[in-house]
Amino acid sequence: MSKGKLIGVGVGPGDPELLTIKAGKILSEVPVICAPRSAPEKPSIALAIVQSTLNNRKNDYKTIEPLFPMIEDKTSLEEHWDHAAELVTLHLKKGLDVAFVTLGDPSIYSTFSYLQKRILEKEYDVEMVPGITSFTGCASTAGIPLVEKDEILVIVPKVDHRLKSILNDGDTFVIMKTSRHGDLLEKTIEADTRNKEIISVQNCTMNNEEVVQGFVKNKKYLSTTLVKFSPD
Ligand SMILES: C[S@@+](CC[C@H](N)C(=O)[O-])C[C@H]1O[C@@H](n2cnc3c(N)ncnc32)[C@H](O)[C@@H]1O
Repeated sequence: MSKGKLIGVGVGPGDPELLTIKAGKILSEVPVICAPRSAPEKPSIALAIVQSTLNNRKNDYKTIEPLFPMIEDKTSLEEHWDHAAELVTLHLKKGLDVAFVTLGDPSIYSTFSYLQKRILEKEYDVEMVPGITSFTGCASTAGIPLVEKDEILVIVPKVDHRLKSILNDGDTFVIMKTSRHGDLLEKTIEADTRNKEIISVQNCTMNNEEVVQGFVKNKKYLSTTLVKFSPD
């Protein structure tokens, strides 16, 4: 019996129509879907995005939803990632492929990478299917080009002291998880004297999408701020 493989499937930023044809094909055929949950009581966002695709299937697949909590404790995180890898391996061992659904693209700050590393260590094959990223989705919603000509795009996953030191080297900044450390973000960006356009998008391409000129103060997780500097 041949071994199953793990497939990291990017499901895009939220609108199910932004799922690629390849992702849709895999999700229509694969025997096991693995969807990350951030807490036992919170449904998986990635699973919700692909639900309409899965609704077209008969009861011919299994769903597993391991916990990937949003905590800082490294030891506890590693335990959760190890547990998720063991759950997935149970199916791979039986020759079943497992599709791990992840928001946006699997190569961009995705929980998929922690699983990928462990599954490769266990000597199973891993594939990735790219998805439309949240920040290209946000740029489309905002109706702006992210970068043109020789402009430099910087993706910032976390607002901390590093932002100030790299600010001068970039033209457009994608700031993720802006609900955390919002004050530091605002202070750092406002201190830069270049002309700037600031647009925040929350729940991009979803039914409850919101676009704000400037920064956002609320704590929504799916929150991205685009900052575009232009010369004086
Ligand atoms: C862990 S990262 C995942 C990034 C994802 N893999 C991608 O390719 O875009 C989560 C962050 O991505 C951004 N994000 C993801 N989906 C979003 C959406 N629909 N609207 C706005 N921001 C989103 C938010 O900044 C969120 O805090």
